[in-house]
Amino acid sequence: MDTNRLKEIEAETLSNFKKHRPSEYFSHLDDTKVFNDFQKQVESIYRYGICFPPELFDGKNLIDLGSGTGDWIIFSAIWGAKCTLVEINDDAIDIAKKVFKKYAPKYEDHDFINSSLFDFNYPRYKEKFDIAHSRGVLTHVADKERGFKILASLIKPGGYLIFSDRNTAGGIQEMLQRFAIYQLGGVNDEKIVEISEALFCDDIDRSVKAIPRTREAVIFDRWTIQQQDDPSVEEILSFFKKNGIEYVSSWPNIEYPGRGASSVTNPLEIDDSTLIKGSRLIENLWLILNKGDQENLESIAGSILDNSYLEKFSKLENDLRCCRIDTALGINDLSSTFGDLKELISDVNFEKDNSLKNRLKIFFDEVIKFCELIDDKKDLVTIREQIDKFNILFKGYNGVRDVLFLGYKKKN
Ligand SMILES: C[S@@+](CC[C@H](N)C(=O)[O-])C[C@H]1O[C@@H](n2cnc3c(N)ncnc32)[C@H](O)[C@@H]1O
Repeated sequence: MDTNRLKEIEAETLSNFKKHRPSEYFSHLDDTKVFNDFQKQVESIYRYGICFPPELFDGKNLIDLGSGTGDWIIFSAIWGAKCTLVEINDDAIDIAKKVFKKYAPKYEDHDFINSSLFDFNYPRYKEKFDIAHSRGVLTHVADKERGFKILASLIKPGGYLIFSDRNTAGGIQEMLQRFAIYQLGGVNDEKIVEISEALFCDDIDRSVKAIPRTREAVIFDRWTIQQQDDPSVEEILSFFKKNGIEYVSSWPNIEYPGRGASSVTNPLEIDDSTLIKGSRLIENLWLILNKGDQENLESIAGSILDNSYLEKFSKLENDLRCCRIDTALGINDLSSTFGDLKELISDVNFEKDNSLKNRLKIFFDEVIKFCELIDDKKDLVTIREQIDKFNILFKGYNGVRDVLFLGYKKKN
């Protein structure tokens, strides 16, 4: 990657985030409840999402590349880590200092480096950290692979990598929004704000309700920012491999149901290629994520696991449970339960089929309809009316944005 290009993109990204900082989750408000709620949210992602509980930060040396205003990484300090923050935006790092002064147990324990992650003296910090952290940053740089290599080089053997970015498939709906906004005249910040508010105000409403950023922060993080190159799971896993990092977990989970389904399976011996293939299934769910878990479950199971099937399945489990020499279980009864299960499976009502395949079909039809409207340069009101009629496209979560990975650098 040529350095000029890297620097050009860096300047472009910086200029966008100078106008509206994307990481002000609570620091722009003086509201203890907002801070406490956000802390709970962050804690549960570490504790229950990637299974890296806050206690594991205690006494650790941590470096965070692209830490923004520190509104996220401050919790590592509260949990006992000594933090080094690297951030290109001087305005953001000034706010991070204030956030750390206010909330960190001891401000002097932490370092603040105002620099691009490509320019600070990273060789000096080689293998100095127990945890290297970077969240939502490499998607905005021109050379992700090099950025990742720098990040991984900072971890001590036996240390952890906590890394997040958006996801290619999970971000496709956002890319469609961008495409539409730009096609419909979003050629500068003002126009982008105007068109995105006209077409996608529900998405902005939902986002600010989840985390109380300003509407402008959402719009500048999503649609005015130009370098938004989201990696796939496969790309991330290949970065892990090239840099000697083992995949441990992720949130949302990339593991398909059934991976390593045995208590004697060695997690290190599970074939990587099946993880990647399984993640393509999951990424297709991320493409159309709309509501959440129940919907995802139905997407994979279709209508096979309906109530009558489940009742019969429970009967089978109960009949066979703790089967002993003297258990009175007739072979005919057993065989007819299996027969019933077979029938119930073949009786699946495809009219009600909510499977991934069916939902993807609806989604693709809606995308085609949307593209027609954009191509015909329809007015914003007409396009908005059509968006209101969609079932999946631009509804609810609008896909998956952030995926947090936990990796481990093996001891030599
Ligand atoms: C989406 S924000 C995420 C901030 C923070 N990590 C968080 O999770 O809240 C991306 C941040 O990366 C910073 N950034 C972008 N390119 C950078 C670079 N080359 N070096 C350092 N920071 C960079 C931006 O200024 C911005 O603060």
